[in-house]
Amino acid sequence: MSLGKEAVGRKAADYVEDGMVVGFGTGSTAYFFIDEVGKRIQAGELKHIVGVATSRQTLTQMQSLGIESRSLDDVNFIDLLVDGADETTRDFNGIKGGGGALLHEKIVAQNSRRIIWIVTEDKLVDTLGKFPLPVEIVQFGSWKLFRTFDQSGMNPTFRKSGQDTLFITDSGNYIIDLNLDVIQNPHQLAFELSNMVGVVEHGLFLNYPDVILSSDAEGNVQEIT
Ligand code: A5P
Repeated sequence: MSLGKEAVGRKAADYVEDGMVVGFGTGSTAYFFIDEVGKRIQAGELKHIVGVATSRQTLTQMQSLGIESRSLDDVNFIDLLVDGADETTRDFNGIKGGGGALLHEKIVAQNSRRIIWIVTEDKLVDTLGKFPLPVEIVQFGSWKLFRTFDQSGMNPTFRKSGQDTLFITDSGNYIIDLNLDVIQNPHQLAFELSNMVGVVEHGLFLNYPDVILSSDAEGNVQEIT
C-alpha cells in the first residue's frame, strides 16, 4: 500500500465543509478520501454531507461507511469533486480512466464547481502519454474502431478484466487503451477522438482540476494551484 496515496487521499478531506454536495472519485487514491470523509461523518466532525459517486465501486464504499448518496440528476450541482488521476501536468491537463470509470468521472466533473485531483508525485509529468490513454467505445463495431486506431499507429489494446474477458464499463461499453508514449497535442487528439463515431468518451481531461494535491513517498502533501 502506498503511503503517498493514503496521505493525499486523507488530506483532501480537509477541503470538505459541512453541508456540501461532494463528488467522490474512483480508484485506489480516492479510496482513502472516501474512507476519511466517512470517518469524519461518523465522528460528527462533518455534517450534512451528500455524496455523488463516480462508479459502482465508489458507491459501494460510500454505502458501507454510511455516506448519504444521491444520483447526479438529483442534485443541482456538486460543490467539490475529489478524484484521482493517472497522469497530470502541473497546468491541469491529465489522463484518467485507469480504473475504467472515465465516462462517469467526466460527467460528474462537468457538473462540479470545484475539482481537486489527488495524486502521488510520480504521476506529475511534463508531457502526457506514457500512461495508456483509455477510450470508452460502444460494443457494436468495436473491432472496426480498433483497426482504425491500429492503422493510425496508435497501438491500441482492448482492456481486459480476465484472461479471455473484455472489461465492461459501468455503462456497458468496452475500453481501448491507446499506447501512445507521447501526446504532442492533447487538445487536437481530444478533438479527433470526440469526433469518431463509436467513441463514447476519452480519458483526456484537459483543464479540469482547480487544485492538484500531490504527495511524495513519505506522505508530504503539496498543493498545486
Ligand atoms: C478511474 O477510472 C481513474 O480515473 C482513477 O481516478 C485513476 O485511474 C487513478 O487511480 P488510482 O488512484 O488507483 O491510481
